[in-house]
Amino acid sequence: MDLNLKARVALITGSGRGLGYAAAAALGREGVRIVVTDIDAAAVQRACAQLAEQGVQTIGVPADVCNEQQVETLARRAIDAFGKVDILVNNAGFTRDKYLTKMPTQDWDAVVDTILKGTYLCTKAVLPSMIEQRWGRVINISSRAHWGNPGQTNYSAAKAGLIGFTRSLALEQGKYNITANAIAPGLIETDLVKSLPTYERLRKTALEKNPIPRLGLPQDVANAIVFLASDCAGFITGDVLHVTGGRYAS
Ligand SMILES: NC(=O)c1ccc[n+]([C@@H]2O[C@H](COP(=O)([O-])OP(=O)(O)OC[C@H]3O[C@@H](n4cnc5c(N)ncnc54)[C@H](O)[C@@H]3O)[C@@H](O)[C@H]2O)c1
Repeated sequence: MDLNLKARVALITGSGRGLGYAAAAALGREGVRIVVTDIDAAAVQRACAQLAEQGVQTIGVPADVCNEQQVETLARRAIDAFGKVDILVNNAGFTRDKYLTKMPTQDWDAVVDTILKGTYLCTKAVLPSMIEQRWGRVINISSRAHWGNPGQTNYSAAKAGLIGFTRSLALEQGKYNITANAIAPGLIETDLVKSLPTYERLRKTALEKNPIPRLGLPQDVANAIVFLASDCAGFITGDVLHVTGGRYAS
């Protein structure tokens, strides 16, 4: 199977750590040049240094995906450095869990804005480069929570909205040979997840309910990203790939 990724350039939001970083390392191993971007400037610097040690060519650009001006600068700097953006991974996101009756509006706004507005701004900023080349891959990191999770009305709504965005984008951009797909991970053992006060409970439930009885690893999601970014996935668009060990809505 020829992934044919060597000449590609990927911009990955939230790639200072966690799943975004794992995706950067996995694509980097295939020869992809990486634009590392994150709201956390120190994490950008750290990630670029670690990737450079692995022989990956990168530029690091700190940016808040919700800030239109910063996103425009990010896209411009990516194109100045590498001439194009072929692959966009909209990965930046986080949870602010509370039952709706107790949810502060700022928690609703922060989660929905980062996931939806961030994806809208980043995709809009890099699409002209993809259209010009008649080749592109937009990969949106949704979540198993798109089916609903108690305490996550904000996060579930945003992750489900991301799937609607993905399907519409696929319909709009297919004629330019640009695919748009979503990945819906289940519980993945990132540092963030391991630091949650609820980690042990989440882990126990996942082990009980996952048909494949283990937690997901960042590499499991990174593998799916590499596949969807490759030429091998050129006829797959508007789809949702679940990386959940077989666990769906429950
Ligand atoms: N880890 C899981 O179990 C899991 C499961 C399903 C979905 N996801 C999704 O995967 C993505 C990555 O999750 P993770 O576990 O790696 O989390 P993480 O917190 O380790 O990484 C997310 C990164 O996004 C960055 N970020 C946050 N807000 C930003 C903004 N406004 N602009 C730019 N960068 C920003 C953070 O600084 C952080 O480095 C998220 O969208 C998350 O919702 C994670």
